[in-house]
Amino acid sequence: MAWSIGLIPVTEHGRAVATSALRVLEAVGHPIDVTEFDLGARRFLATGDVLPEDVLAELRTMDALVVGSPPVGANGIPRGILERGIIFRLRAELDLYVNLRRYIGDSDVDVAVVRENTEGGYIGEGGVLRPGTRDAVATQGSVTTAFGVDRCLRYAFELARRRRKKLTLVHKASVLEYSGGIWTSTLDSLSTCYDDVDCTYADVDTACVRLIEDASQFDVLVTDNLFGDIVTDVAGAVTGSLHRSGSADLNAGGRRPSLFEPLHASAARVAATPVERADPRGAYAAMALLLDHFGQESDASRLHLAVRSVPDDNARTIAETEAAVLALCRMQFSQASWESPS
Ligand code: IPM
Ligand code: MG
Repeated sequence: MAWSIGLIPVTEHGRAVATSALRVLEAVGHPIDVTEFDLGARRFLATGDVLPEDVLAELRTMDALVVGSPPVGANGIPRGILERGIIFRLRAELDLYVNLRRYIGDSDVDVAVVRENTEGGYIGEGGVLRPGTRDAVATQGSVTTAFGVDRCLRYAFELARRRRKKLTLVHKASVLEYSGGIWTSTLDSLSTCYDDVDCTYADVDTACVRLIEDASQFDVLVTDNLFGDIVTDVAGAVTGSLHRSGSADLNAGGRRPSLFEPLHASAARVAATPVERADPRGAYAAMALLLDHFGQESDASRLHLAVRSVPDDNARTIAETEAAVLALCRMQFSQASWESPS
């Protein structure tokens, strides 16, 4: 049966790259049935709507959501309205508790970052007393639950098991002893169930330096919401794959839909390019994450490798990139059938 996909283009560039990505998904993977949802800057400016209840109810019925361009503030919309109102709200409402990003660099660099996606400092807890005055006092809470940490770490262990079996917990437990303590003690107790996975701990500052020095030493990194936001972009930049990596917000417990999009950090460059030459590789990589999430592992890795093999080129059109990626996928497919004895 076809997968029902809720497409949230957000912008014209988003529509162009996501439409191409959905064609690629269908060509390499699986039949799909697409419904488009108008959310983002245009709708907010015209109606004041960010994520109306009836739209949310319809989004809940989809097998997967595909966002074309990250809904970051633009067109004079105050920073945070669309980010919190669409992305954060969907992460919370759909319980998308894992954010997964995979960075495939040159040679042997292939790093996955698992970010806890529903807790930490991003839950909007806090407030401001005497706002706008010199006496303003702000608090911004950060919440860490044993339940949230446990389910995120289990996902990371399972992922490591499918990869090179190396897991690094990233936090700042040396200073943030209460929240860090939950992460480290949960890691310790789970590690006995996953004794085939080699697991270690690194403080977040050290982990960033090590990533920059040599990303190939890492396999799977797992961390909290705030550190994950930062570490993911560092990983993208140092592996040279910021513009060809995807982001998945997953309900790893099997509930649908999960959400797939290009990396937010790639949005500015995409938006600055004429629509027909926008770089669709981040959106294709998001489709590879979708295929993997739906258990189509070999199609997912074919697509990941094909996307990695298409070099940066600002002059290439979306149509040319799409043709190149599909040709590379087909090549890998025929090679695989040729190599495998039947
Ligand atoms: C990301 C983005 C978002 C986040 C922003 C746009 C709210 O930076 O997905 O990494 O911080 O989670
Ligand atoms: Mg980010």
